[in-house]
Amino acid sequence: MRPQLTTIVRIVEVRSFATLLFVLGAAACGRPATGLALGEELFETCTPCHGANGGGNPEIAAPGIAGLPQWYVETQLQGFQAGFRGKHADDLPGLRMRPMAISLREDDIPSIAEYVASLTPAFAPSTLHGNAGAGAEIYTPCVACHGTDGLGNEVLHAPPLVQMDDWYLLQELQNFKHGARGAVTGDTWGITMRVNTLALSDEAMEDVVAYVQTLR
Ligand code: HEC
Ligand code: HEC
Repeated sequence: MRPQLTTIVRIVEVRSFATLLFVLGAAACGRPATGLALGEELFETCTPCHGANGGGNPEIAAPGIAGLPQWYVETQLQGFQAGFRGKHADDLPGLRMRPMAISLREDDIPSIAEYVASLTPAFAPSTLHGNAGAGAEIYTPCVACHGTDGLGNEVLHAPPLVQMDDWYLLQELQNFKHGARGAVTGDTWGITMRVNTLALSDEAMEDVVAYVQTLR
C-alpha cells in the first residue's frame, strides 16, 4: 500500500524537526557561554527563513528582523512561546514561526535577541501602493506610542516601524484586527495595540503603512 500524503508530510516535518534538534544539539556541545557569539550560532537556525543577514523573505512571509531592538525581539519570542502569536488557525506565517520560538531555551533568548539587534536593518523597498498623504492623518494617534519618527518607544513596548517591510506591517495590522494577534488574555502589549486597529479599513491600513515608509 502507498503511504498517504499526510503521512509523507508528517515524515518530512519530523525529519526537519530532527535536523533542527541536531543543529541545536551540535550548538550545545562546544557552545560559547552567552552573549553575541552564542546568539550568532543560534541564528543559523533562523536564516533559512529570515535570511543570512536577517533581511527576511517575502515569499514565505518571513519579515526582515535585522536591527529590531533586543527588548522587542525578546518579548516577541516569548510571546510566540506563550501562544500570544502564531496560534490562530488562519495565521499561517505565525504558525510557521511559533515552533522556532518554542525550540529556543529560555536562557538563549537574550543572546539571540542581542544578535538580531546587532544586525543592520535591510529597509526593503515598498511593495504596496497606499496613499501616504491620507496615511499621515491615520498615523496621528499612532504617534503616542510609535513616535513621530516611527522609531518606537521601549517604555510603552511599542516597536520601531520604519525599518519593517510594508507587506509585513499590513499583515500584522490585519492580524491584530482579526484577533490573530493581541487577543489572548495576558498579552498586555498586544491588547494595547489591537485596539488601534479595530476601526481601520484595509485601505486605511495600506495608507498608514505607505506613510510609515516615508519616515525612513
Ligand atoms: C520556518 C521559517 C522561520 C524560521 C526558521 C524562523 N522564523 Fe521568525 N518568523 C517567521 C515568520 C513567517 C514570521 C512572521 C510571523 C507573523 O506574521 O506573525 C516570523 C516572525 C518573527 C519575529 C517577529 C518580528 C516582528 O517584527 O514582530 C521574530 C522576532 C522572529 N521571527 C525571530 C526569529 C528567530 C530569532 C528565529 C531563529 C531562532 C526565527 N525567527 C526562525 C518564520 C521563521
Ligand atoms: C497605545 C500605544 C500604541 C498605539 C497608539 C499604537 N500602537 Fe502599534 N504597537 C504598540 C505595541 C505595544 C506593539 C507591540 C505589541 C506586541 O508586543 O505584540 C505594537 C505593534 C505594532 C505593529 C506590529 C509591528 C511588528 O513588528 O510586528 C504595527 C504594524 C503597529 N503597531 C502599527 C501601529 C499603527 C499603524 C498605529 C496607529 C493606527 C499604532 N500601531 C498605534 C502600541 C501602540
